[in-house]
Amino acid sequence: MNAVSRIKPQSDAFTRNTQHYAALLTTLHERMVWAVRGGGDKLMQRHIERGKLPVRQRIDLLLDVGSPFLEIAPLAAWGLYDNEVPAAGIVTGIGLVEGVHCMIIANDATVKGGSFFRETVRKHVRAQDIALQNRLPCLYLVDCGGAYLPEQDLVFPDWGHFGTTFYNQCQMSAQGLPQLSAVFGGCTAGGAYIPALSDEAIIVQGTGRIHLGGPPIVKAAINEVVDGETLGGAAMHTRISGVTDYLAADERQALAKLRQIVRNLNQPPALATPPRASLPPRFDATEIGGIVGGDLKQPYDVHEVLIRLVDDSELQEFKPEYGVTLVCAVAHIHGQPVGILANNGVLFSESSMKGAHFIELCNQRNIPLLFLQNITGFMVGTEAERGGIAKHSAKLVYAMATARVPRLTVLIGGSYGAGNYGMCGRGFAPSFLFAWPNSRIATMSPEVATTVLTELRKSSLKGASAEAEMKDLARETTEQFTRQSDPYYATARLWDDGIIEPTQTRDVLGLCLQLLARSTPRPSGPSPVFRM
Ligand code: COA
Repeated sequence: MNAVSRIKPQSDAFTRNTQHYAALLTTLHERMVWAVRGGGDKLMQRHIERGKLPVRQRIDLLLDVGSPFLEIAPLAAWGLYDNEVPAAGIVTGIGLVEGVHCMIIANDATVKGGSFFRETVRKHVRAQDIALQNRLPCLYLVDCGGAYLPEQDLVFPDWGHFGTTFYNQCQMSAQGLPQLSAVFGGCTAGGAYIPALSDEAIIVQGTGRIHLGGPPIVKAAINEVVDGETLGGAAMHTRISGVTDYLAADERQALAKLRQIVRNLNQPPALATPPRASLPPRFDATEIGGIVGGDLKQPYDVHEVLIRLVDDSELQEFKPEYGVTLVCAVAHIHGQPVGILANNGVLFSESSMKGAHFIELCNQRNIPLLFLQNITGFMVGTEAERGGIAKHSAKLVYAMATARVPRLTVLIGGSYGAGNYGMCGRGFAPSFLFAWPNSRIATMSPEVATTVLTELRKSSLKGASAEAEMKDLARETTEQFTRQSDPYYATARLWDDGIIEPTQTRDVLGLCLQLLARSTPRPSGPSPVFRM
């Protein structure tokens, strides 16, 4: 049956939504300019005068011509450190090198010498997690001053900090996932270990340096006076210490060498043919902004979004007449099968059980899952509690958390409370998680939080000042929840893998599904389907 759309593009609501969404996209584009700006004009000029290439140009030269580049968390550190650490000083993403999908992890030396802030470490570790899960070789373009020392307590000692990046390198290498480095600048301390722990390392003559302690540390520690080139220069490391394996005359030669090594890695090629031919949707994804708008309280039919994302707009919907606040459907995206769970209202017991049942079907049939979150939470109230919403919602959470097939999540609207959990929020380790610029994420909305907190405080506030204090509390709570549920607050802190536009979503998901189809073996053993 052909899909139909019921939207009215001429309506006032659609026009208003479209305009609102256009403004959201303008903000996103402005912030992406910040992300690619690096450390600013002066430092970029110094960088180039030293014969070095900007980090994104290095990546362009490394990738195959025409390769997509799925950048992970480009807006990390947005709004933090007075916005002086664009993209957290590191660019990470997946692209094709010699026909092989690779994870690229590249320091931006124009941002505080490529040193590691809290978000830099998180981004580096997240990129490695993705590489491990998707069996991708890691290519490190190293230009890194180690830990950002004023933040050393936030990047050095704990699990998930700098040490974990090295642990990951060793683990991945041992599991047959190549770890390769090209060194472009001064790499000190932690920065030095990235190439030192790589399977093979290239270094650029003149600018590349590796030392566990730079000249000032050597002077302080053992009173030896030595220049940087003698201590850790490219020629010394390639000809004498053997820390690096190849000497490159310049950056382009280093990148060409890296490509040559990848060419001979004996890795499986990236382009597995999808099970079906990819067909474009029958409806236009540019209309999604006009459908969803920016007001989360304004309901819309999520089928209108789905038919603009999936191949040929074809949905095979499961239990379409039951538990209608959760739409469950098998579809294809760029020829890859996917089982979609999309919110269409509050989650009730019926919708939760339907979701759990659907996940079991996808498990049995080896179909990856896609969660499209627009959820205020599970239903509350006496009737819902007596109907067992706690245990029925738990069935959805349990089925989702233990699914044997890969899971993807996109926040297309609100992501509140336990709804975030049931719909595979970050805590449930989806393979990838992206957000749209209209999304919001928090325990609850600002309005609900304000009501809850003022109700809780009411009994303890007495006397003449009580009313004023309540007003202050209400104002502060609304402000806090509004600020913290903003998608840029979330992406700055790596709660997602990036903010993407509705029109990019199909291509991003297609690439993710392609990677996961190649890297995830078909689960073995029984996969029971319990009718709920
Ligand atoms: N912690 C804090 N700040 C650092 C830093 C670090 N590890 N590495 C560099 N920076 C800062 C510099 O202070 C400078 O800040 P400013 O612009 O506010 O003055 C900025 O980053 C650029 O550094 P600069 O030395 O001018 O750049 P460079 O390109 O000439 O050299 C390095 C880059 C990384 C080789 C050099 O900065 C260096 O050796 N840093 C110290 C490395 C170190 O000792 N790390 C130990 C970590 S455990």
